[in-house]
Amino acid sequence: MKKIISAFALFVSCLSFGQGNTHNQAGGKFEGLAMTPPMGWNSWNTFGTDINEKLVKETADIMVSSGLAAAGYNYIVLDDGWMTRERDANGDLVPDPVKFPNGMKALIDYVHSKGLKFGLYNCAGTQTCAGYPGTRGYEYQDARFYAKLGIDFLKYDWCNTKGITAPEAYTTMSNALKVAGRPIVFSLCEWGDNQPWEWGKPIGNLWRISGDIYPCFDCEFKHPENWSSWGFMKIAEMRKDIRKYSGPDHWNDFDMMEVGNEMNDTEDKSHFAMWCMLSSPLFTGNDYRKMSKETLAILTNKDLIAVNQDKLGIQGFKYAAEDGLEVWVKPLSDGNWVITFLNRSDVARKVNFDFKKNTIKDADFGYEADFNKVTYKIKDLWQNKEIGTTKKNFVSDLASHDVITLRLMP
Ligand code: GLA
Repeated sequence: MKKIISAFALFVSCLSFGQGNTHNQAGGKFEGLAMTPPMGWNSWNTFGTDINEKLVKETADIMVSSGLAAAGYNYIVLDDGWMTRERDANGDLVPDPVKFPNGMKALIDYVHSKGLKFGLYNCAGTQTCAGYPGTRGYEYQDARFYAKLGIDFLKYDWCNTKGITAPEAYTTMSNALKVAGRPIVFSLCEWGDNQPWEWGKPIGNLWRISGDIYPCFDCEFKHPENWSSWGFMKIAEMRKDIRKYSGPDHWNDFDMMEVGNEMNDTEDKSHFAMWCMLSSPLFTGNDYRKMSKETLAILTNKDLIAVNQDKLGIQGFKYAAEDGLEVWVKPLSDGNWVITFLNRSDVARKVNFDFKKNTIKDADFGYEADFNKVTYKIKDLWQNKEIGTTKKNFVSDLASHDVITLRLMP
């Protein structure tokens, strides 16, 4: 009898364990999936909805062969345009069979086989921004669909959402992902319209803080339909007061990068430096197949990536600005600081920074660098060399739109 009871108990416990995966209680994101800002590639900035299997495979191949993966980039995310215009008879989403002739599952398996992760896009509304089926009313069904496909990342947009609120809609999808049982990074993309930094932390791993990026240094691009896209410097300083909301597993997302697209290498350097200073997720948005060696060198600068990926996860801030010469700073986990001089103006400027006259205080997180008390060694992260200490002024010419990033080491 004892044997029968224990066999029965084992059977019951297996049963409830098995059910545990499919009947997870809602409430709270999968924790710990993005302890440093996620890094990868997203199709939107270069390809829009013109995406396909060949592009994804080639991108995954180059991510590995070029050294991007070794530098930390590991998510391949397909943005809008991966589905057909209608759901199937069961209400399931349908990956476009023309764009993905071997099916989405085979493609995801391919990306996984390269040691990479895979993400998809959808929208909280009735349709995506490009008019494909949105998730509204299908949250649990779509979450099961994604879990079964084996995706690792979901970007969830905010078009066609009349009648719903962002906290409700994003909470519902977060719960649905949790119940579906596969750990999936949840990326909130409602452009900062509803202050996601105030309610997003328990439900998502990152949230966009702005409208879409535009491949320019400091412009506003006005679309005819009455909305704007923004140059990277506009986004960098758009929300001055929200850095305290960003940190490990809950990042302010400054949008996918435009490095390697329409700006010159100097501006691309500045763009990359800013995204690293701001602890933004680092999603490349260029065509890897046409990438110049300069673009690759910018994207794989190990010292800059280390700034972005620092485990303290503190978003940098603008410390000073004069005549378009901006000084951004960021404290790191090992007591180092990073200081970035960025020339936002249209003419060359001279940097002359007297450390002794500048005590840097981070009021949000309580860090301080007092150069009269502590001398720091200086490493130039773009030239990859040590260049002295904070005992002397840092003096340098700085071309228009160019950047200097220094790591200060006590
Ligand atoms: C919105 C998002 C973009 C992109 C497009 C796709 O504009 O902000 O990042 O996902 O939708 O249609």
